[in-house]
Amino acid sequence: MKIFLDTANLDEIKKYAEMGIVDGVTTNPTLVAKEGANLKEYTLKICEMVDGDISAEVIATDYEGIVKEGREIAKWHKNVVVKIPFIPEGVKAIKTLSSEGIKINCTLIFSANQALLAAKAGAYIVSPFAGRIDDMGQDSMQTIAEIRQIFDNYGIECQILFASTRHPRHVVDAATMGCDICTMPAGVLEKMFKHPLTDKGLTQFLSDWEAVKDKQ
Ligand code: E4P
Repeated sequence: MKIFLDTANLDEIKKYAEMGIVDGVTTNPTLVAKEGANLKEYTLKICEMVDGDISAEVIATDYEGIVKEGREIAKWHKNVVVKIPFIPEGVKAIKTLSSEGIKINCTLIFSANQALLAAKAGAYIVSPFAGRIDDMGQDSMQTIAEIRQIFDNYGIECQILFASTRHPRHVVDAATMGCDICTMPAGVLEKMFKHPLTDKGLTQFLSDWEAVKDKQ
C-alpha cells in the first residue's frame, strides 16, 4: 500500500520524504489555506520533494470552471493529479479531463455508489473519507470494503485512497482492506513509529552495553 502525506506543510513533507517512506502527497483547499500558501508554488515545491502522485484540488464547482482549472493544474508538473469533488458537474468534468489523459483524484467520497460513479467516469483515484464517515456515526470500514469488493468484482482499475485518516489503526485497516493508498497527516505517520517496547528495549540494550563498553 502506498503511503501519502495529507498536508501542504513543506517541513513535514521533507522530514518524511527523506526517510524514503512517502509515495505521494494530497492537499486540499483547507490544508493549503492553513499554510497561507500559493497552490501552484507549493504544489511545485512538493513535486521537487516527492516523486509520486501529488494531488491539487480545483476550486470551481461548475463544469466549465472545473475543466478549465483542471487543464491548467495538470500542466504544472507530470506528477500532478487533479482533485475534483464528487458533485454532478465534477463527474462530468472527470469524464472530459480523463479522456484527455489527465489523472483525476475524485474527492469527498462517502459511499460505495459515489465511488462507482466516479470510477465509471474515469477517475484514476477515488478518496473515501473514513474519519468523516465515522464522525456521522456510520461505519467507514463497511463503505470501504464495499468499494474494494465492487472494484474487484468488475476489474475496475481505479485506485482506492483511504482518506480522512485519524489514527494509526486506520492505516492498518486501510492496508488489510486492500486500499491502494492511505493518506495521513504527519501526526498519524509519526505515531506509526511509536511502540513503548521499542523504547524500553533500546534503553535496556544501551544500559547493558554501558557495563561492558570499556572491554570493547
Ligand atoms: C484527502 O485527500 C483529504 O485531504 C483529507 O484526508 C481530509 O481529512 P480530514 O477529514 O481529516 O480533513
